[in-house]
Amino acid sequence: MDSSVNVLDGINFTIAERESVGLVSPSGTGKTTLLQIAALLESPTSGSVIIRGKCADTLSNDEKAGIRLRNIGFVYQFHNLLPEFSVLENVAIPSLIGRASKREAYDRATILLHHVGLEHRLSHSTNRLSGVA
Ligand SMILES: Nc1ncnc2c1ncn2[C@@H]1O[C@H](COP(=O)(O)OP(=O)(O)OP(=O)(O)O)[C@@H](O)[C@H]1O
Ligand SMILES: [Mg+2]
Repeated sequence: MDSSVNVLDGINFTIAERESVGLVSPSGTGKTTLLQIAALLESPTSGSVIIRGKCADTLSNDEKAGIRLRNIGFVYQFHNLLPEFSVLENVAIPSLIGRASKREAYDRATILLHHVGLEHRLSHSTNRLSGVA
């Protein structure tokens, strides 16, 4: 018996820089799969992901990791904040990994947190962000 599940069949779309897009669908229809593929964490069985005009099909794992560092990020509701670090530090860590100076990383993290209305939470620990953090 073929138990394979076909998801994201015939999907073709573009998201512009700074565009906000909501993705709404019933459970199990492929939202997480789409995000995993868009972030180059999984490869599609067919089709391609094009990021900033460049086809990602032939990129090495290191190159994919570089794109995730600089161009794509996830904000998860449930996981993946580091509890030992403040909200500001959690947001600054990717820039620090990308070799920004401490000053640059913290300035950028502050701006980003302002953008999402969390400027009053910079020094909070992540477990005080919400009931599920
Ligand atoms: N690791 C896996 N192994 C096998 N099948 C999987 C796996 N992950 C997802 N699937 C299947 O792929 C399909 C899409 O799953 P996906 O997790 O992308 O859906 P979703 O839209 O994110 O669901 P939800 O709204 O519940 O988060 C589902 O039918 C699921 O059964
Ligand atoms: Mg999901």
